[in-house]
Amino acid sequence: MKIGFFDSGIGGLTVLHKALKFLPNEDYIFYADTIHVPYGEKPKEEVKQYIFDSIDFLAKQEVKAVVIACNTATSIAVDDLRKKYDFPILGIEPAVKPAVQRSEETRKKVLVLATRLTLKEEKFQNLVKSLDNDDIVESLPLPGLVEFAEESEFSDEKVVPYLREALSQFDLTQFGTVVLGCTHFPYFKSCVKKLFADDVEIIDGSIGTAKNLKRILEAKNQIDNGTGTITFFDSGQMIEDPETLSNYKKLLGILDDNL
Ligand code: SIN
Repeated sequence: MKIGFFDSGIGGLTVLHKALKFLPNEDYIFYADTIHVPYGEKPKEEVKQYIFDSIDFLAKQEVKAVVIACNTATSIAVDDLRKKYDFPILGIEPAVKPAVQRSEETRKKVLVLATRLTLKEEKFQNLVKSLDNDDIVESLPLPGLVEFAEESEFSDEKVVPYLREALSQFDLTQFGTVVLGCTHFPYFKSCVKKLFADDVEIIDGSIGTAKNLKRILEAKNQIDNGTGTITFFDSGQMIEDPETLSNYKKLLGILDDNL
């Protein structure tokens, strides 16, 4: 059986990329809800419906697990999805815990970058409340990065000025760790790095999710020895057009270079 990966768009590839390292012999379905991307600026109930429609589609493909490779979708729907389906549903959350732990050594603050919806949600607010006793976590929505990723605009010339302007409200020297809390953002890790001191660490939750997926499949004795295929779907349509397929593969390649 296959493993389903779901995202509003191409961000989920940053998590699939990690899963391929830990579980190279599985067969995957990657489902991007490209008709409705971006999620992060839309009303919660509308987005929730898109997510349920997408996971219903994956469930019909008889997957053995689904990874919600989207921070926004995890924030607003993972608990309800787990109630509905009987296969494991994994999510991805901003890596606030390791970032706060690191701040105990660096004595510097943590900056979480994500979508507006993720940052507004109770899940994120509660996570921060449970970890941030010293008021060291700041956050900022960066919807422009989702747009850049969906437009395949990864150039420093376009992205760095956007980041510089968005981050201009902060004194960046106060931060020791930056959390990329949206799966679209790791494409821009090198651009983000340019704005911070060399010793600032930039982290995301994708390794945690990939390791968790492996652990769950091992516990269920469901590790497969497949051929490592990936079947891509755009909002319910299987992608067969060679140009689009090669673009998806190119994006996985960019991640090899960037992470
Ligand atoms: C978006 O669709 O706005 C981004 C989703 C995410 O990864 O949080």
